[in-house]
Amino acid sequence: MIKLLNKVKANKSKSKFIKQNGKRAHWDPEKLPVHIAIIMDGNGRWATGRGLPRTAGHAVGAETFRHIATYCKDIGIEYLTTYAFSTENWKRTADEIATIMGLLEKYLYESLEKMERDKVKMKFLGDVSVLSPKLRNLIVETEELSKKFDGVQVNVCLNYGSRNEIIRAAEKYAAERYDANPNNEALTGPLTEETFSKYLYTADIPDPDLIIRPSGEMRLSNFLLWQAAYSEYYFTDTLWPDFTERELDHAIINYQARDRRYGNAR
Ligand code: FPP
Repeated sequence: MIKLLNKVKANKSKSKFIKQNGKRAHWDPEKLPVHIAIIMDGNGRWATGRGLPRTAGHAVGAETFRHIATYCKDIGIEYLTTYAFSTENWKRTADEIATIMGLLEKYLYESLEKMERDKVKMKFLGDVSVLSPKLRNLIVETEELSKKFDGVQVNVCLNYGSRNEIIRAAEKYAAERYDANPNNEALTGPLTEETFSKYLYTADIPDPDLIIRPSGEMRLSNFLLWQAAYSEYYFTDTLWPDFTERELDHAIINYQARDRRYGNAR
């Protein structure tokens, strides 16, 4: 496994130049997306395609996550949000779930060790209350210790589901309104989009500019449904463990060629 991980590491390119239509292309540093969100998909297929257990795909996927997060920091992306475990992923085998949770624990231990060097602010989005006490403590500690950093903010969606997030936000909003004024009959209004956003896990995080989904699937799978209203999408057949910095460059160049109108006329 270590040999495999080293090989994957060696293959990752550091270059931010890519070839497009036979020419060297470069993204514009002035127009970088502020917030990139990624559905890290294809780990299982990557592994089974090589005759390996699915869990091997997650191990390499975690390495890819590490590379891409570092690269985002290096090039000046302010927010990176990744989908690590959805509310639906509990349907997987106990072995696969334990592997993913174990990789997260390992990643958090390592992040804590290197925190002062890496200076990455980390946040976890989702209902983490059902996770193991060990993982919950690591999450609290990482969030607490890293909140002073203001370079890239890496958000890891864990036991996250967007519909659940929206329902939870509605409940929280109603409860607060009720607590503030239990006799208020007009409990539901007025409520603005801006106010409602503050009740989501992503409160204080700008909406993603660019959402990337590798592995050939073209759906959101309950990821950031509210926040994705005006996001640009980038789909690629590359499986997440094979996703490189160069592919991210490609996604950014592609994003920069888009005309974002937000409903306006051209
Ligand atoms: C989706 O691929 C991937 C997951 C459900 C798990 C993602 C987890 C990691 C990358 C490891 C832990 C993360 C961190 C942040 C250290 P899939 O299994 O659905 O792939 P498939 O569609 O090919 O089956």
